[in-house]
Amino acid sequence: MLTGSKVGLRARHEDDIPILRTGLYDDVVNGSRAEGSPWRPIPPGSKDPRLAVDDTEPSRVPFSVVELDGGTLVGTAALWGIDTHNRSAHIGLGLLPTARGKGYGTDVVAVLCHYGFVVRGLQRIQIETLADNFAMIGSAERNGFVREGVLRSSAWVMGEFLDEVLLGLLARDWKPDTGS
Ligand SMILES: CC(C)(COP(=O)(O)OP(=O)(O)OC[C@H]1O[C@@H](n2cnc3c(N)ncnc32)[C@H](O)[C@@H]1OP(=O)(O)O)[C@@H](O)C(=O)NCCC(=O)NCCS
Repeated sequence: MLTGSKVGLRARHEDDIPILRTGLYDDVVNGSRAEGSPWRPIPPGSKDPRLAVDDTEPSRVPFSVVELDGGTLVGTAALWGIDTHNRSAHIGLGLLPTARGKGYGTDVVAVLCHYGFVVRGLQRIQIETLADNFAMIGSAERNGFVREGVLRSSAWVMGEFLDEVLLGLLARDWKPDTGS
């Protein structure tokens, strides 16, 4: 397990999946804002591509997020789009509603940076998020990510086009302590 100051990132367990699906994706608004694709109902027991682990896919490393104190499941996180030529990747995460606003998101980003830069030897990590997702932007900026641009009207979300912000962090600018 990878550990931060408040949360740990461990492998996805089968029994995490219904909890994460209910907390993150059953809600149409939450799901639509986080996904970048149209919300669809996923029948229980079917392979949910957002949460099932595909070990044959090297470009995506999914984790479940747990509280260090007690091990309670609080969310999902991933390094995705891992590009071993350009040594870059993207961060994705989602916390269950009761786990938000406690600094966990900032800690997850810190742990994913450690995994990306130290364990995987990446030189660049980026995050794309809706321009009004202040908690995600804050979690990134606390870890040294800088805003590199705005993708105007790039996301169709619940009846309107919204802007996304692109945030990036280079290994040479990363200071491991800024997140905790
Ligand atoms: C986005 C998310 C991962 C952030 O994690 P979090 O644990 O809630 O965020 P933190 O508590 O670490 O807060 C990070 C920063 O944002 C600020 N913040 C938190 N919630 C906020 C809110 N609703 N509005 C404005 N700022 C907020 C915090 O004050 C903090 O800033 P600070 O360090 O300057 O005090 C989490 O809220 C979440 O899972 N949201 C739903 C799914 C989602 O949006 N995923 C990202 C898709 S790209």
